Amino acid sequence: MSGGFPNPATFPTADLDAIVARLLRDEPGIALQYAPSEGIPSVREYLSDRQEALQGRRPAAGELIVTSGGMECIALVCQSMLDPGDTVAVEAPTYLGALMAFAAAEVDVEGIAMDADGLEVDALAERLEAGVRPKLLYVIPEYQNPTGRTLSLERRHALVELCRRHRVLIVEDVAYREMAFDETTALPSLWSLGPDVVLQAGTFSKIFCPGVRLGWAAGPADVVAQLAAAKQLTDQCAGGLGQRMVEEYGRAGHFDRRIPQARELYGAHWRALSIALERELGDVCTWSQPTGGFFTWLTLPEGVDSVELRPAALDAGVTYVPGTPFYSGDGGRNELRLSFSHLAATEYGEAVQRLASVLRA
Ligand SMILES: Cc1ncc(COP(=O)(O)O)c(C=O)c1O
Repeated sequence: MSGGFPNPATFPTADLDAIVARLLRDEPGIALQYAPSEGIPSVREYLSDRQEALQGRRPAAGELIVTSGGMECIALVCQSMLDPGDTVAVEAPTYLGALMAFAAAEVDVEGIAMDADGLEVDALAERLEAGVRPKLLYVIPEYQNPTGRTLSLERRHALVELCRRHRVLIVEDVAYREMAFDETTALPSLWSLGPDVVLQAGTFSKIFCPGVRLGWAAGPADVVAQLAAAKQLTDQCAGGLGQRMVEEYGRAGHFDRRIPQARELYGAHWRALSIALERELGDVCTWSQPTGGFFTWLTLPEGVDSVELRPAALDAGVTYVPGTPFYSGDGGRNELRLSFSHLAATEYGEAVQRLASVLRA
């Protein structure tokens, strides 16, 4: 239950087989060629259509580029905007990959507390009022990695307003946004609420497959232009084949058909894990209640150390990620992340039993 990999059962192999064969046959000069750094024009058009359909706002010219995944967008932000000694604010805890990128950029990371409704916007406001000057705030509003929590509607409005007032760029990572268990729960993206102060980092890794390495960056045109310039020094362009695969797949309506199936799968996994947790650990631990995504966040009794317990858990045949690497500073020793993306629904009972036997011992 450690990795955040999407379940291979969601990979659309048969549809892709036909699409790739057609692309190789009919347009090798596009799909196998270098592409513009900003992305193939028809793909940008498709991604803009998608933003409009799903988030109610269409990026204007220059407000969207294609990236080689969500992680690349974070790396491009670091490369083009951050200098050593700058401050970046993050949710505490947050995505390990982002923390590693910020560490490599030699910036100071200011962790802001979270609760069941996501980032505590009042806590951020207090820090800003106290003189902390972050160049940006990195936030994962839906089914956050690692906690599974979602930022409430009220806080979304408050956060955009606060960051606009203090001139802090919000980098909104929407990696799990489309992975709600229940389709009716979508809240407005931060980018749709504040396109002047929000850069959205999106990815097709969870709703399509990570192997294509494809995502997008949508935000203020001057910020997006800086990312596009930085991209010329990394891979110059996202792979043309993957770009056209996503476009063809999407325009044929496959996302509309396959994403609900994936939601169903992960929802069933979560229900199985949740029942097992309640049965085995209900009297000793607490955990978050995700409404989508891949993760729940477990709090162990005070004094129980998730790092020290890991070898015993491995011996018992169960894995998790300890809480500490998700914090920039101290924190997380009595917390851990469980993923429910990868095991089959029938395996959570046994997995949690093993974890419970280690915790009780
Ligand atoms: C919150 C978050 N952002 C970004 C990524 C990276 O996504 P990509 O595969 O698009 O680089 C992940 C992957 O696990 C993630 O959890």
